[in-house]
Amino acid sequence: MSQFVGLLVLLCSIGIQTSAVPNTKYEPTWDSIDSRPLPSWYDDSKIGIFIHWGLFSVPAFKSEWFWYYWQNNKEDDCVQYMEKNFKPNFTYPEFAPSFTAKHYNPDYWASVFNASGAKYVVLTTKHHEGFTLWPSKTSWNWNAMDVGPKRDLVGELATAIRKTDLRFGLYHSLFEWFNPLFLLDQANNYTTNFYSHGKTVPELYDIVNTYKPEVIWSDGDQGAPDAYWTARDFIAWLYNESPVKDTVVINDRWGDGIMCNHGGFLTCDDRYLPGTLQKRKWENAMTIDKNSWGYVRTSTINDYLTNQEVISTLVKTVSYGGNMLINIGPTAEGTLPPVMEERLRQMGNWLAVNGQAIYNTQPWVYQNDSLTENIYYTEPKISEIPTVYAILLDWPKSNLINLGSLYGKFKSTQVQMISPDGSLIDLTWYNDVDKKFRINLKPVISDLYGWVLKITNPIIRK
Ligand SMILES: *[C@@H]1O[C@H](CO)[C@@H](O)[C@H](O)[C@H]1NC(C)=O
Ligand SMILES: *[C@@H]1O[C@H](CO)[C@@H](O)[C@H](O)[C@H]1NC(C)=O
Ligand SMILES: *[C@@H]1O[C@H](CO)[C@@H](O)[C@H](O)[C@H]1NC(C)=O
Ligand SMILES: *[C@@H]1O[C@H](CO)[C@@H](O)[C@H](O)[C@H]1NC(C)=O
Repeated sequence: MSQFVGLLVLLCSIGIQTSAVPNTKYEPTWDSIDSRPLPSWYDDSKIGIFIHWGLFSVPAFKSEWFWYYWQNNKEDDCVQYMEKNFKPNFTYPEFAPSFTAKHYNPDYWASVFNASGAKYVVLTTKHHEGFTLWPSKTSWNWNAMDVGPKRDLVGELATAIRKTDLRFGLYHSLFEWFNPLFLLDQANNYTTNFYSHGKTVPELYDIVNTYKPEVIWSDGDQGAPDAYWTARDFIAWLYNESPVKDTVVINDRWGDGIMCNHGGFLTCDDRYLPGTLQKRKWENAMTIDKNSWGYVRTSTINDYLTNQEVISTLVKTVSYGGNMLINIGPTAEGTLPPVMEERLRQMGNWLAVNGQAIYNTQPWVYQNDSLTENIYYTEPKISEIPTVYAILLDWPKSNLINLGSLYGKFKSTQVQMISPDGSLIDLTWYNDVDKKFRINLKPVISDLYGWVLKITNPIIRK
């Protein structure tokens, strides 16, 4: 065996990132783009943090679509909100000076994200309002360096995140609601490219070259064809030549008809949680505030997911092969709303104990036993002995559970529960009548959000 082959075998056997086949040249076609293997870090990570931050964080009312609602429907509560709280004829750009970010501490954000157990972060560089959080050369006086914070919010977070082991990713909206050049191209049925060539596509290259993001989360194609956005050319460049060509992952929102069909991982819809296995890798982008991606100052506790709901969404997502991108909305001052921070930290506490059932796993042959119990399965990608994790989302009053999917599938089986201190507690099990695989649980006196059973030695795997 040559040294080279030896090295390759070693790299593969220890699971080192082998993304693209070296020297593969991707063409600007969806067939070619779709043929690229997804870099393995992404599927192994399972959890990312989504951050929606922008001028909409100033009114912080209803949602990040505030400007659009306010302008497009005279009956909308955003109109009343403006009438009640702002002088007549106040314009949206006048929010910019109040977007101060004066308490923005990116190192603190990074420490919270790291504590959450997430493995990557995706920040809005520009939402549909068009205001850029970095000093975009094509967004004069409509960016965070010229007005508002007078800081490069994107660059500062990139630096902070890179002090941790998390990966840094960026969200970018292709269209802008009220950009006159976009509206002109749209009126011309996208036969002209004033906006795409002059504004938004240069921004995509700019953020990749400047911040080297390992996720590009594209959004807002607004029904325009992918050719108008020159999406295939951009992605081919990203995969062949960009500074992140070997590790970058992209989503699927790149033009009319592309979402849920082409790209890297599929997002399909907001809060996508299909409940069945999918052919391709997918992501569930969801929010802690159930109604909004941006911060909303009028939200009450009932508007937020509980810790139980966060963990249960994570477990269901992972058992069906998805990643969860959990969204928070910081304030205009740059602080993280404490309730969001608390949800993230609780998720991290749970993962610190139970993460082996989440990270580096894949869907098992059965995904749930939800007809009888609130149970979801995963299996480690690599393990010395065959192992299945059963994640119990409700504790049964009887302290007895029935895992129908496991009936008859285990012989010299060991069933253990991961206790809150991380140790393994042995449990007894038996094949019952009526095809029931029963496990006697030992009650854990602890208010957890999900209990993990580690089941080793199945005799039938597929
Ligand atoms: C608001 O704008 C309208 C139309 O330009 C103008 O007629 C009106 O005087 C303005 N109101 C105030 C209070 O400036
Ligand atoms: C990130 O979290 C891990 C696990 O809690 C911890 O060991 C590590 O020190 C943290 N890293 C940073 C940079 O905060
Ligand atoms: C706009 O362009 C599309 C695709 O090129 C075409 O199918 C459609 O008929 C055009 N619509 C109008 C109103 O010209
Ligand atoms: C359980 O899994 C089956 C098969 O994958 C699926 O059809 C069903 O919808 C799942 N139930 C829930 C509650 O997810």
